[in-house]
Amino acid sequence: MDNNKRPDSMERITTKELADAFIAEQIDLVKKQVGDKKVLLALSGGVDSSVVAALLIKAIGKQLVCVHVNHGLMRKGESEQVIEVFQNQLDANLIYIDATDRFLDLLAGVAEPEKKRKIIGGEFIKVFDEEAGKLEGISFLAQGTIYPDILESDGVKAHHNVGGLPEDMQFELVEPVKLLYKDEVRVVGKALGLPSSMVDRQPFPGPGLGVRCLGAITRDRLNALREADAILREEFDNAGLNKTVWQYFIAVPDMKSVGVKNDKRYEGWPAIIRAVNTTDAMSATIEEIPYSILNKITARITAEVEGINRVLYDLTPKPVGTIEWE
Ligand code: XMP
Repeated sequence: MDNNKRPDSMERITTKELADAFIAEQIDLVKKQVGDKKVLLALSGGVDSSVVAALLIKAIGKQLVCVHVNHGLMRKGESEQVIEVFQNQLDANLIYIDATDRFLDLLAGVAEPEKKRKIIGGEFIKVFDEEAGKLEGISFLAQGTIYPDILESDGVKAHHNVGGLPEDMQFELVEPVKLLYKDEVRVVGKALGLPSSMVDRQPFPGPGLGVRCLGAITRDRLNALREADAILREEFDNAGLNKTVWQYFIAVPDMKSVGVKNDKRYEGWPAIIRAVNTTDAMSATIEEIPYSILNKITARITAEVEGINRVLYDLTPKPVGTIEWE
């Protein structure tokens, strides 16, 4: 039997009952597979790895070692949430690595988007590999592979994902959600008790804010981007737009314009709002955002974020514009 093929008879997991049954079945399977050995997991805080972590904590507790690498390109509060949920609430064996300086030092002066992606992906593997090398007695590697990853394994996500691992890592894989579609992973995550802010997260690229801090990343512009993005997310949440808009974020280009603040000339970067709807990310339409909300977001970002002096709304559907700016 092909273990990577979803059986035609497998029911779509849409309810808590079906999720609970799936969880119970996977706990059994994982226990049988792993025995009393240790399992390593790169926990990004994204939906898939978080659900795998919660499931494995239930199955094997402290035999799971989670490693969270903060590459310095996370959104505001994300790494903190990983620590809060997994270390504080679920009492996981979590190793937190703040590798911000390593990533940002390597990225300094690099403006070319594909080069940036390569650096981020390559360094991620290096940091994770170094950490894995320090641990003893690890026999298994858990991964948040989901069914679309298998179906598209030569497609887009493969080169997109930061979580690729070195080929010389000799671990057996534990992939409990590999036959599930994304919506099912979310249902399972909820049944496992993960917060909605984690399970219902919008897609976030592996290279994180690195592809939204356009051109060569600097710490001050990255910081402005992170703060502006947090304001956008907060205001979308308040207005309920998080339920209707598929993906929304800020991009900050490497250019300044003149402005005026407190009666003084104020040169700053523009914050560009992107808010799109799509089913498969292959094409996307622009969401109509009420003007009053755009107004409020503009007022807050220009008042609260150091270095930003304009807010723009990108009206371009995909095609022609891709969702991300680089
Ligand atoms: P584009 O910009 O190609 O994006 O229209 C389509 C979807 O893919 C996401 N995306 C990425 N995801 N690594 C990822 O894991 C990446 O390098 C990457 N680039 C784009 C993007 O956020 C959108 O949802």
